[in-house]
Amino acid sequence: MKIKNICCIGAGYVGGPTMAVIAQKCPEINVTVVDINEKRIEAWNDEDVENIPIYEPGLSDVVSEARGRNLFFSTDVDAAIDQADMIFISVNTPTKTYGIGKGMAADLKYIELCARQIARVAKDDKIVVEKSTLPVRTAQALKNILDNTGNGVNYQILSNPEFLAEGTAVDDLMDPDRVLIGGDIDTEEGNEAVQALVDIYAHWIPEDKILTTNVWSSELSKLTANAFLAQRVSSINAMSELCEKTGADVSEVSKAVGMDSRIGSKFLKSSVGFGGSCFQKDILNLVYIAKSFGLNEVADYWHQVILMNDHQKKRFAANIVKTLFNTVSGKKIAFLGWAFKKDTNDTRESSAIYVADYLLNEQAEIVVYDPKVKKEQIYADLDYLNSRSEEENRQRVTVVNQPYEACQDAHAVAVLTEWDEFEGYDWQKIYDNMLKPAFLFDGRKLLDRKKKEEIGFEFYAIGS
Ligand code: NAD
Ligand code: UGA
Repeated sequence: MKIKNICCIGAGYVGGPTMAVIAQKCPEINVTVVDINEKRIEAWNDEDVENIPIYEPGLSDVVSEARGRNLFFSTDVDAAIDQADMIFISVNTPTKTYGIGKGMAADLKYIELCARQIARVAKDDKIVVEKSTLPVRTAQALKNILDNTGNGVNYQILSNPEFLAEGTAVDDLMDPDRVLIGGDIDTEEGNEAVQALVDIYAHWIPEDKILTTNVWSSELSKLTANAFLAQRVSSINAMSELCEKTGADVSEVSKAVGMDSRIGSKFLKSSVGFGGSCFQKDILNLVYIAKSFGLNEVADYWHQVILMNDHQKKRFAANIVKTLFNTVSGKKIAFLGWAFKKDTNDTRESSAIYVADYLLNEQAEIVVYDPKVKKEQIYADLDYLNSRSEEENRQRVTVVNQPYEACQDAHAVAVLTEWDEFEGYDWQKIYDNMLKPAFLFDGRKLLDRKKKEEIGFEFYAIGS
């Protein structure tokens, strides 16, 4: 079976870059990415490709090559579903904020809406691909909806979880460690559908990196991968606190431990806590699934990864207060970085938000500089917490476009994101314009301690 038309529902951080790369690599396939968010689609279609809604290194080049040729962005979801042979569902699956499973389970309402829409519109057979991260066995629910509310056409459901990380999305898509495709491999039709998707990826990915499994293994592997990755960060962060008490340095420990090839060196960088839209939600989802099967020890084991992460953010903020003579009331604290990691404009679950909230509760004044995050986003992140009024957030938090302005007259500077440019600043100039003693808190172990102490900073870094 040769796929000619692809539709992707959801033009977000996954749908946009993933489909742009598929379109670039498969010029004979028409790829239409649809979304109900009109502003987002408008931005994807902006004449100036630098204005696309997602910042990812290299993405604008891929989009400019394929857009208008075989890559289209649209709000006409029905038309795209109707024309497609293969439909990717790449909508958001956030943590539920209401009802049963509140604060833990994945909210599948957007997924269900997609399924119902596909069922209503489709007049010929379709392959439906789960691209979103979903609880194991969601494919069964999808099939149920499609088969029972549809127009009698046949559906094959595949699971094809996405492993890209933000900030490196294009590289990860071009050269992934593996591509995972789960399908109904016990049937001929299921195998054909799996093969159709394998053929798409085989345009640029060696076949030995394309792994096929049953649907449930594929769905569960995605949650497992994120849980393992996040666990590594929480493990090294747990050690960072012990390092601070003992004179060990977490970077040295991390290097020494990571050189054991059984452990490996990646994902052992201590930080002010992991953020991003997925680790927390996916682990909570896993914990909820384990609990729902009565597997309480399994649930508790993974939940600890989240508890450690919460602790890491909190203790970074608490240390700022303690070091500044137990009060930050009315003191100006400059934040360098707001995004949850470098090279992205995404701020979802960024540690900076929680550190800011803690310090605002202590009546600090905060000035933020981030190279890619817009002012409105920073206020929206704080407002979302509902900790204080929107007016108060705007009174107490200032967002500036210039790092030196952020640090001017500050009592302390805190590095919250590991943007490369931060180390290259004129730190003497920053020091000269700060109040003394000038405190510097490095939540990313990015800055050179020796140089900063020579300038005169009172320097604190996570894990040493
Ligand atoms: P996102 O919020 O950036 O994008 C989702 C988009 O879906 C939004 O633009 C939203 O308007 C749209 N949408 C929701 N319901 C819709 C509907 N019924 N019809 C049309 N459009 C609809 O989310 P994301 O970061 O791209 O994540 C999507 C999924 O991919 C999630 O399940 C996430 O866990 C998973 N994932 C994310 C990443 C990542 O790095 N962000 C990586 C791997 C997997
Ligand atoms: C993560 C996974 O890495 C992807 O494989 C996965 O597809 C994605 O989640 C998802 O499912 O959404 P992402 O959240 O974009 O990707 O970014 P990461 O690079 O994993 O970073 C997550 C957080 O962990 C960041 O806040 C980062 O600063 C932090 N981190 C990461 C550390 O503190 N230390 C590390 O060593 C690595």
